[in-house]
Amino acid sequence: MKEQLGAIYKESSEAAQKVEDLKQLEDLRIRILGRKGQLTLLLHGLKTLPSEERRIVGQAANDIKNKLLQVFDDRMQVLKRASWSADSKLRPDATLPGRPVEMGREHILNRTLHEIEGIFKVMGFSVAEGPEVETEYYNFEAMNFPADHPSRDMHDTLFIDDGMLLRTHTSPVQVRYMEKQKPPIRAIMPGKTYRCDDDATHSPMFHQVEGLMVDTNVSFTDLKAVLTFFIHRMFGEDANLRFRPSFFPFTEPSAEIDMTCVNCHGQGCSLCKGTGWMEILGAGMVHPNVLWAGKIDPEQYTGFAFGMGVERITMLKYGIDNMRYFFENDLRFLRQF
Ligand code: DAH
Repeated sequence: MKEQLGAIYKESSEAAQKVEDLKQLEDLRIRILGRKGQLTLLLHGLKTLPSEERRIVGQAANDIKNKLLQVFDDRMQVLKRASWSADSKLRPDATLPGRPVEMGREHILNRTLHEIEGIFKVMGFSVAEGPEVETEYYNFEAMNFPADHPSRDMHDTLFIDDGMLLRTHTSPVQVRYMEKQKPPIRAIMPGKTYRCDDDATHSPMFHQVEGLMVDTNVSFTDLKAVLTFFIHRMFGEDANLRFRPSFFPFTEPSAEIDMTCVNCHGQGCSLCKGTGWMEILGAGMVHPNVLWAGKIDPEQYTGFAFGMGVERITMLKYGIDNMRYFFENDLRFLRQF
């Protein structure tokens, strides 16, 4: 019986290599493994053998059956592949255009931020960061906001719990930075800031860039020079600056800085409410109390600071009239830049 099994295996696998299509292969399979196939019938014959021998031959027959199944399957793959490449309808068409691969791009806010960083790096500023979850101490106290002072309300603070909040501005990074770095200091500190506010020109999360320069004899003139260089690089040489007296607890004197209206170039339009100017950032000379908080002696050093909104700069630069566009992730908006 063993010889018979060997012969069936040899003949069938040779026959499998000779069949030329799937139909012939299927016929062959039925002839060997079908209900009345050669191997099946032989297996039925096992019953007549003594039990010891039946076990051994049965085992061998099963092995052969499995090997044949594999042989038929391999041959089927070969035949299928051959029929695909013969049939042009099934063959992959190498002349078809490929599926387009969409390229991602930098979000316009990041692009503006990197542009701002690049301009200040030219002037020797380094870039530093601070935490978004901040203590009341750094956000207000260290920035010279008196306790219970109404200017804290102005910030629409999102409190977390005891003494913790989402920073309302990047200014607290000034003190964190001064605690670690001694003058001369020249740094910008970009990052996310949070306020409970939401309309066309306010978002609960927005971005600011803080600037700080501390050294011996830093003056308002230096502030003006640095900001003028920045605005010219960012908006072009014909952008003019104007300093208006203002108030911030952390600077003295303080100024709000306006730039020639990007829309009407100073003629006066609805965007600038007829003034020809647009507010672009806040700045001033660092208040002595803030230097103290940063463990820097105001008798020895002076400094200036400024803060700007990245969304606002981007809106002015590209003529975007609603802040929500930045965060809605509408590809039609994002792809424009
Ligand atoms: N922290 C201010 C705000 O969020 C912006 C600012 C104004 C920052 C004047 C400064 C500054 O460093 O000197 O409105």
